Order: sequence, then C-alpha cells, then structure tokens
Amino acid sequence: MPAERFGMPDLYQQYIDGEWRATGSGEFTSENPATGAELGRFHRATGTEVEQAVAAASEAFEEWRGLSRIDRAEYLWDIYHELRDRHEELGEIVTRECGKEISEGKADVTEAWHMVEWAAGDARHPKGDVVPSEIPAKDAYMRRKPRGVTACITPWNFPVAIPFWHMAVTLVEGNTVVWKPAEQTPLCGQIIAEMFDDAGVPDGVFNLVQGYGDAGAALVDADAVDTVLFTGSAAVGQEIAETVAADPGKQAACEMGGKNALVVTEKADLDIAVHAAVMSSFKTTGQRCVSTERLIVHTDVYEAFRERFVEVAERVAVGDPLDEGTFMGPLVEADHVEKVTGYNNLARGEGVTVLVDRTDLPDEEIPDGHEEGHWVGPFVYEADPDEPLRCTHEEVFGPHVALLEYEGGIERAVEIQNDTEYGLAGAIISEDYRQLNYYRDHAELGLAYANLPCIGAEVQLPFGGVKKSGNGYPSAREIIEAVTDRTAWTLNNDEDIEMAQGLSADIKTRE
Ligand code: UN1
Repeated sequence: MPAERFGMPDLYQQYIDGEWRATGSGEFTSENPATGAELGRFHRATGTEVEQAVAAASEAFEEWRGLSRIDRAEYLWDIYHELRDRHEELGEIVTRECGKEISEGKADVTEAWHMVEWAAGDARHPKGDVVPSEIPAKDAYMRRKPRGVTACITPWNFPVAIPFWHMAVTLVEGNTVVWKPAEQTPLCGQIIAEMFDDAGVPDGVFNLVQGYGDAGAALVDADAVDTVLFTGSAAVGQEIAETVAADPGKQAACEMGGKNALVVTEKADLDIAVHAAVMSSFKTTGQRCVSTERLIVHTDVYEAFRERFVEVAERVAVGDPLDEGTFMGPLVEADHVEKVTGYNNLARGEGVTVLVDRTDLPDEEIPDGHEEGHWVGPFVYEADPDEPLRCTHEEVFGPHVALLEYEGGIERAVEIQNDTEYGLAGAIISEDYRQLNYYRDHAELGLAYANLPCIGAEVQLPFGGVKKSGNGYPSAREIIEAVTDRTAWTLNNDEDIEMAQGLSADIKTRE
C-alpha cells in the first residue's frame, strides 16, 4: 500500500535529552489498521537508547524540581493550546493510526487536553496538608516531593489521552519522564514529542523512546528509574509489578484490563439498558480496558432485552472509521484479529449458544479500499453464569459479549459480576435506588456506573481498578500519589522540646 503522508519526514527518531536522534536497532513501521497503509517508519529503540534517555532524565531532575510547580505548568499550557488548536487534525491521526471511529479519535485528543488543563490548573491549587499536633508549639505538615525519573509505558487504544494521563501531573509535580508509547501507535508518540520540543521543555525533562516490549522492559529495569507508570495488559502489568517489587525504592502503578460486566435488573428501563450495553460492548470495537464482555440480565426482562440487543448487534455499522456513519472501526492489528477470532471459536467449542456471529464480515460490508483492514464484527452469545468457561472469564478485548441470565435478587447479580479475577469497570441499569446502592457497595470495581454505559470516565475522577485490574492509579487525579513521596514535616516553635503521646523529654542522668 502507498504511504499516507502528513507532510512530515517518514523515518522518525528518538527524542532524547532535547534532541532528535537517529539511533536504534533497525526500524519498524506504523500501519493504518483500516487500510494497511504505512503511516511512518521509526527507529527501534533498544537498551542503549533507553539507557541514554534515562540518564538524560536523571540529569535533568535536579533543575526541573527546582522550578516552582506554577513555572513547570507553564510549559504544559502551551501544549494544552496546541492540542485544542489541532483537534481535528490530531483526531484524524488517532483514527488513522489506531482505527477508532472519528468521534472517538477526536474525543481522545479532547481527553488529553482535559488532563493537561487539570494538571496545569492544579499547579496553582493548595497542595499537601496542615495537620494538627498534640503539642501546641508544633506545626505539622504533609508535604509532597517528586519521586524522580518516571517511566511511562502507554497503550495504543488511547494513544494521546493516556500518555497525558501519565505525564501531565507527573511533570507538574517535578518528575522527569521517559516515555515509551505502544509500538502500534508511534506516530501519535512522535507528534506529542514534537509538542514538548516546541514548548521548549528543558532538555532531558521529557524523553521519547520508540520501540517494542524489550525497550519497555529495559526501562522498567533501569536503575535510575524511580517510578513506573503502566497502562496495558494484565500479563505485562503483573510482570512489571513483580520486577519493581524486587527493587527497593522503585514503585509501579499499573492499570490493566478487565472482564467488565453490565447488570440489567428486573427494575431496569430497557431503553437505557440496550443503549448502555451496545455502547459498553461495541464502542472502540470492544478495545477499551473498560469495555463490557458480560451482560448479566435478570430473567424477568431477559427475553425482551436479548431480542433488542441482538437486533442492534446485527445491524451496528462496522466500517471506515473516518466515515461519520461508522460505529465500529477495525481491530488494531492482524494478531488481534487472530486473538478475537480465537476466542469466538473457543466460545463455540465451550458449547455456548451463539446469537450473533459477525466474526467474518461479508465482502459487501467492507468499504472499498479497505480490504487489507483488520475487520471483525460483533459476536454475541448466551452462556451459563455458573459454568467455569474461559470465554466468560478471560479478557478478549474485542466485540465479544456474553449474555448471562440470572434469577433472584441484586445479591445474585453482584455475585456473578464479582466472579472474575478482574475489577476495573462495571455498570448497573435499574430504577431502584436500593439495588443501585447495593451494587455500589458490593461490586468489586474501581469504576462503577449506574444507568450509564461503563465507558467514558472523566479525568478529574480517579481511574483504576481493583483485583487483577490494577495497583495504584497511573492516571488522572490520583496519579499524584504514584509520582510523589510524602514528607511528614514537624516544626517546633518553642525552645523546649515536648513530645507527643506523653513521652518524657527529660534527659535523666546518674546524679
Ligand atoms: C481505556 O479503556 O483504556 O473511561 C481507557 C473511558 C475513557 C478511558 C478509557 N475515558 O472510557
């Protein structure tokens, strides 16, 4: 396929210590998942580039932390304006590089500037706590300090928003950054690095290395890295958490996937239920870490819900993600088509009842010029919630969704909801506030929604999961806990020393 060009050179470099470096071991390419067209070629970083970038970030730390939070945030305001000014253009690049339909491509950019706005605005807000002491003459405070060099490893499904979730607060708090974007979306990485360069961020404060998992692993292992922020698969996140746990002083905050569910109770408004279920299951072609792969539906409304959900799943528009009439774009890459197709086959093999199978889209549904795209449509089936099936317990990360019928009260629905190793996002559809509150208090989740899809979190909320879905919050508001250390600072205003807890301050001698 011919290369699609954006008026930029097509062999991109690493950004290390304030300069572009044509270094790496070999090259890799970025490809448009809807057409197969090449979007750019990239030098592939290895341990050497990672080492250089970490050294630069380490070197830059003292000076960067010496600036005020407000001065550091000034650099980010430039980026905020650039993200806004280039909204349409960048939204289209997101869509071309990761395949999400155009409203999602643009929303990704919007979410990025929201995060930058939140972080930079927060620079002028009070930070830390004034804390009471038992001793009147003591002033006690909790103060925050930047932890140091931060490794950011981000996924392809939000190639602009999630990098800023990681980096905006991290930088404002005074840390320096080495960022490795996903190998599927290096062009978005390149453009963001150009923004940091244009904003004049001091050399070494922000560094970009482009490459694969080996570069990510070298980054996690690097001695001078103090904090690792990771958003991606549970397998990789688990590995990172284990590596970091063995390295005293280093910390990791990881946000991983889910086997998310939407509960529809007998008290649900079915219009909301169907709308929310379709959005949760099929938006982003099921490739959000918050996407739903289980619909837990009460027996009283099961048949009515199934009929309506299946009807939409049969018709939902899969196609060119740049076309505004499209609801679902392609999957991100050929390997992922294999994975999702494999899970659809696995489900059949596990004996489920298939209701909608658009795994292989017929030729007439594939838009002209998109024959090389990675197309997969919805796959919907019924399964028994009590069966220990792999298809209803393992994350697929695609438009693969199980209907699970339940009888009894909300407690039973929540029991099924919690029957997973994961705990990222979930939603309940009900008009009964007692059911909603029971779910709120007992569903094992980091993000819970009522009468809404379980996608669409905003940056001013914490974002992260429990159980296998995450430790720490590498994103949005709560990231401050991951990228700062707290100092409990106590100052005596008296000339005498007086201790708390009634502890004697007298020095007793033999005489
Ligand atoms: C993800 O699914 O990987 O809550 C991130 C949402 C978005 C972010 C999702 N704000 O759906």
